[in-house]
Amino acid sequence: MFTKKTIKDIDLTGQTVLLRADYNVPLDDGKITDDYRIKQSLPTIQYLLDHNVKLIICSHLGRPTGPRDISCSLFPVAKRLQQILDRPVEFATDCVGESATKAAAGIKSGQVLLLENLRFHPEEEANDDAFAAQLAKLADVFVQDGFGVVHRAHASTEAITHHLPSVAGLLLESEVDTITQVMLAPERPLMAIVGGAKIADKIDILHRFIEIADFVAVGGAMANTFLAAQGINVADSLYDKTDVPIAQDLIRRAGRESQKRRFIFAIPHDGVVVHKIDKTAPTRIVDWSSHVIADIEQYPRRVPTSASRVHADEMIVDIGPFSGSFIAGGIQLANTVIWNGTMGVTETKSLQGPIGPYAHGTDLVIQALLGEFGHKPFTLIGGGDTVGYVEGRKLVKSFGHVSTGGGASLELMGGRTLPGVEALENKK
Ligand code: ADP
Ligand code: 3PG
Ligand code: MG
Repeated sequence: MFTKKTIKDIDLTGQTVLLRADYNVPLDDGKITDDYRIKQSLPTIQYLLDHNVKLIICSHLGRPTGPRDISCSLFPVAKRLQQILDRPVEFATDCVGESATKAAAGIKSGQVLLLENLRFHPEEEANDDAFAAQLAKLADVFVQDGFGVVHRAHASTEAITHHLPSVAGLLLESEVDTITQVMLAPERPLMAIVGGAKIADKIDILHRFIEIADFVAVGGAMANTFLAAQGINVADSLYDKTDVPIAQDLIRRAGRESQKRRFIFAIPHDGVVVHKIDKTAPTRIVDWSSHVIADIEQYPRRVPTSASRVHADEMIVDIGPFSGSFIAGGIQLANTVIWNGTMGVTETKSLQGPIGPYAHGTDLVIQALLGEFGHKPFTLIGGGDTVGYVEGRKLVKSFGHVSTGGGASLELMGGRTLPGVEALENKK
């Protein structure tokens, strides 16, 4: 149960609210390519506006290199929010100082103001108290609803709570509640599918999944580190050299676990390889299990053939059909599936059709998760790129819980406390 006060626990009458959202949305040439995070913030915004507050929203976007890094401006978000809300959204060109103070003074009850990127000030990420005090001056109450950023102790997630009464928004509450519940008491069998490229960030969560899940499957660039840990030459593939010993340790731990109980740890048996990431590049399937067995009389030894070897100038960009089918089969047995990270380079567009040349593994997983092979488990998915891909395929509504958090959902699943949640007021 969520133990922090929410907007439903306080009197909002006549208040000016500072709402921290996570509007760190993907942009392509200034255009928002996925507005899932904006849409998910609407219930809280609607609740606050129904209570007639003056609403000031703040957020970060990207990792700006300085105050004039216009590629990280939140202005496109203000426009999109205005469209979705179907009411005017004012925009202040700075989150503190004169422009913010003036804009904040200019809004009336029931009106909305979005402040420019918090990270245009290095004080934000430094969790600077004086900067938080300046933000706090704009409002009477602080509402944290940026689930995607509460794993960071920044001025707008931690320091600010020392200056204003601070409660949670509805998105934050629902994310924390759902994810905690799934981790504590999942309907078993529990399967975890971990892919993507943020390998170092995700290795940690694998320890937890090996402990609590019944089936763990790795894919994406993440899997390349495990293949390397098994002595397979992954050539030009993206992988994390420094994490190879950790991957070896995880493989050993998984092996011990499967001797104790019914447990499967699946590393891809096959993959799709290319010379370069390009929609026209020819693909080839490499099947590591097709190494021939040699010298069987003396000692069994697996010898790579061309079909079972990634060549020097090749890279693995997707899981292969056997591995995809194996994961899809596992999904048929699971009642809960947690998925984070794509199985391949999903953003490469196809010459024709909606599925990119290296997105077939990911798409097969999606089909299985949505019950197309007969069984539909409860699904919990997270990760910016994963959710972005699912959004792109217009399938978000078909999943159980689609988290707005990447790192935050992983840390919560890993059992870590989230500083931006800790800092909020406890329920009585
Ligand atoms: P998420 O945002 O869902 O948490 P990540 O950011 O960790 O996931 O990883 C998503 C990224 O991983 C995508 O940009 C995708 O192109 C990349 N990726 C997945 N598989 C591979 C691979 N085999 N080689 C290179 N990049 C990969
Ligand atoms: C995210 O996209 O995971 C959050 O918005 C946090 O962003 P950050 O990783 O740049 O702190
Ligand atoms: Mg990502």
